[in-house]
Amino acid sequence: MNETRHQVLDALSDGPVSGPELAEELDISRSAVWKHVEALREAGFDIESDDVGYSLAAVPEFGGEAVEYELDAPFEVEYHDSIPSTNARARDLAASGAENVVVLADEQTGGRGRLDREWSSPSGGVWLSLLFRPDVPMAQAPAFTLAAAVAATRAAREMGVDAGIKWPNDVLVESDGTERKLVGILTEMEGEADRTSWIIVGIGINANVDSDDLPAGANPTSLSAELGEPVDRRVFTQRLLELFEELRQDPETAVAEWREYATTLGKRVRVETPSGTVEGEAVDIEFPGGLVVDTGDERVTVSAGDCDHLRPL
Ligand code: BTN
Repeated sequence: MNETRHQVLDALSDGPVSGPELAEELDISRSAVWKHVEALREAGFDIESDDVGYSLAAVPEFGGEAVEYELDAPFEVEYHDSIPSTNARARDLAASGAENVVVLADEQTGGRGRLDREWSSPSGGVWLSLLFRPDVPMAQAPAFTLAAAVAATRAAREMGVDAGIKWPNDVLVESDGTERKLVGILTEMEGEADRTSWIIVGIGINANVDSDDLPAGANPTSLSAELGEPVDRRVFTQRLLELFEELRQDPETAVAEWREYATTLGKRVRVETPSGTVEGEAVDIEFPGGLVVDTGDERVTVSAGDCDHLRPL
């Protein structure tokens, strides 16, 4: 949303305000005011007008403008009702030089998960990709993935869902000894060793999605399934972006906060890494995201892999 439209919206939310008053306040023509009002109505904002002027009666349930409205984070939101993959779209935007953009969709038709898996993304979820250009070496990128997991976990907890994080970035809900997946994160990046050109953090949240519409093999759950009612996706997305914004400023703190929500630490784990299997007790996490595993013989830090929680011996 452009700056003037933001200002129009802010004025309307403190309204009623007349067209001429608005035009003077923002130093634009009356017909420009009218065009902004019409565009906002088109985007789903309920703008009432009476003798006194315009006022904002309701904000749309979901969408780019809805999420940007009163968002306390510097992201522009590009919204799609349906798109193959928000990560793929964010890659195109990265190639054209964009930054601090969030691609958000209600549905993905070709959602991608880790290890080249498909990611089922029916309508009702929060499927988004954050594109940003941090001034850090590429080796620190995993910290941003952990930051996204922390932000998603905190946002879910604020809504009343008791989520935790399985290393490195699966957000799960555990009940009766069963772990169900609520959120998945796929990070992509480009740059040289000492300089990151861009990072895309793709976050898939099963928000208002029926678990029966998700592949059973992944043992999925959703915010609505956990709460027994749909969540306000606009508010959830805003909180997620605001929390991520805070954490990305200080990735070392993000890793420290990850410890608070980790379900992996203290558990026996098996991690399939590119260079072999590591089994033992997960004892700690190290910046920028390595898992420290005590195998009984030694402590090994694994930086990437698929992690399984095992039953205690
Ligand atoms: C995983 O395998 O756990 C990661 C899943 C990541 C899914 C998200 S949904 C938004 C973004 N767009 C994609 O195509 N994938 C990510």
